[in-house]
Amino acid sequence: MEIGIIVYSQTEHTYSVAENLQEKLVAAGHTVNIERVTTAGEVKSNSKDINFKNKPDIQGYDSIIFGSPVHAFNLAPAMKAYLEQIPSLQDKKIACYVTKGLPFHRTGGNQAISQMKKLCQSKGGTIMGTGIVVWRGGRGKDISELVQKFSRLF
Ligand SMILES: Cc1cc2nc3c(=O)[nH]c(=O)nc-3n(C[C@H](O)[C@H](O)[C@H](O)COP(=O)(O)O)c2cc1C
Repeated sequence: MEIGIIVYSQTEHTYSVAENLQEKLVAAGHTVNIERVTTAGEVKSNSKDINFKNKPDIQGYDSIIFGSPVHAFNLAPAMKAYLEQIPSLQDKKIACYVTKGLPFHRTGGNQAISQMKKLCQSKGGTIMGTGIVVWRGGRGKDISELVQKFSRLF
C-alpha cells in the first residue's frame, strides 16, 4: 500500500515520530513517503493567514497519516489550514497523531485530534485511528504504542 505521512513539525518531535512510523510500515511491506508541510515565515499560534512553502499533494496515496504538534491547546494553525485546503480525502484511509509538550489533561491533545478528525471526515476521509505522544513524560512508551497501533491499521 502507498502510504503518505504528512507532517508539520517545527522542532522535529513530530517528524521523528514520522520516521519511527515509516520504519515500521516499510518493514511491513508498504511504500511510505514522509512529506513536510512547511510555511514561509513564522506562524503565530492564533494565525489564520498562512503562506505555504510546501503543501504536499496527497492524491497518489491510498492511506495517509497526518502528524502535527499541539499549539495553544489546539491543532497547530499550519496543519489546520493545510487540512482545510485539501480538496478531497474521498476513499482514503486516514490516521492522525499529535505530539504535545505538557503531560496534563486538557492541554490540547484531545482537542487537536478532534479537530483533525472533523476536518478529514469533512473531506470524505475514513479515520482508521488516532494517537497522542506526550513529549515531556514517557514519550518512548507513547511512541512505541503509536507505532504498534498504526502498523495494524493499513
Ligand atoms: C507556540 C507553541 C504552543 C504550544 N502549545 C502547547 C499546548 O497548548 N499544549 C501542549 O501540551 N504543548 C504545547 N506546545 C508544545 C509542543 O506541542 C510540543 O513541543 C510538540 O511536540 C512540538 O512538536 P514539533 O517539534 O514537531 O514542532 C506548544 C509549542 C509551541 C511552540
